[in-house]
Amino acid sequence: MRLQNKVAIITGAASGMGQGEAIRFAKEGAKVVVADLNFEGAQAVAEEIKAAGGEAIAVSVNVMKTEDILNCIKVTEETFGPVDVLVNNAGVFDKYQKSLETTLDQWKFLIDINLTSMFEFCNAVLPSMIERQTGAIVNICSVAGLVAGKGGAAYTASKHGAIGYTKHLSSEYARYGIKINAICPGTIETPLVKDVLAGLSKEAVPTRTFGQVEEVADLAVFLASDEAKFMSGTAVTIDGGFTIQ
Ligand SMILES: NC(=O)c1ccc[n+]([C@@H]2O[C@H](COP(=O)([O-])OP(=O)(O)OC[C@H]3O[C@@H](n4cnc5c(N)ncnc54)[C@H](O)[C@@H]3O)[C@@H](O)[C@H]2O)c1
Repeated sequence: MRLQNKVAIITGAASGMGQGEAIRFAKEGAKVVVADLNFEGAQAVAEEIKAAGGEAIAVSVNVMKTEDILNCIKVTEETFGPVDVLVNNAGVFDKYQKSLETTLDQWKFLIDINLTSMFEFCNAVLPSMIERQTGAIVNICSVAGLVAGKGGAAYTASKHGAIGYTKHLSSEYARYGIKINAICPGTIETPLVKDVLAGLSKEAVPTRTFGQVEEVADLAVFLASDEAKFMSGTAVTIDGGFTIQ
């Protein structure tokens, strides 16, 4: 197993990609913390993992709240031990709202959840990773962090920021044996995009398909595992070739 006994926090793990990552990480032997604002959903995912013989707990976390983040780390350490892997996956979408259509409150909400929470969660786990000279951080970004037109103003800015922040982290902390990388999914069939999916054409994607959560979970396992130890600060696309065009 590729993540045997690794302690992994996955944010936004009650649904979509986070859920897929939690289930896949547990199958690879990780002790998984299913962290989400939707506590009932997180509990259901943790129960599914345990029913399949894996180890997991659910923790109620609003990633916009510093105290929730610190509590999540505390509960994780008390239950499983220090954090080996952090997957910053929780995110919200702005359904392509243009800048002039975006209020300041909407902007701040998107940036808080998609970017600032990453900063706070990373700062909370980095000291222990530096001390132990090991760890992995996987930041779920987006092709909207690479090109325009895959989100609205705030979403695009938040994901570009998240990729830049990932590069910064790598340049400063990779030297301590910490693997820090970003995943940039294209359109993946999850509840996040269900309202906009009908308006998107598979013809715009070279593979003529949308992605599935399991495919992103496989990539996250790889980046969290020692197989990726020479990968650092990269923004890996998983988008059916969308961004090559
Ligand atoms: N689905 C796509 O096509 C796509 C493409 C590129 C990137 N992404 C990114 O992937 C990540 C996961 O998206 P998804 O499609 O699986 O979405 P999803 O809506 O299925 O799941 C997101 C999860 O995040 C949780 N969440 C939202 N706000 C939170 C908060 N404040 N605190 C804690 N948890 C919170 C939700 O409860 C939910 O369980 C997001 O960062 C998203 O931006 C998605």
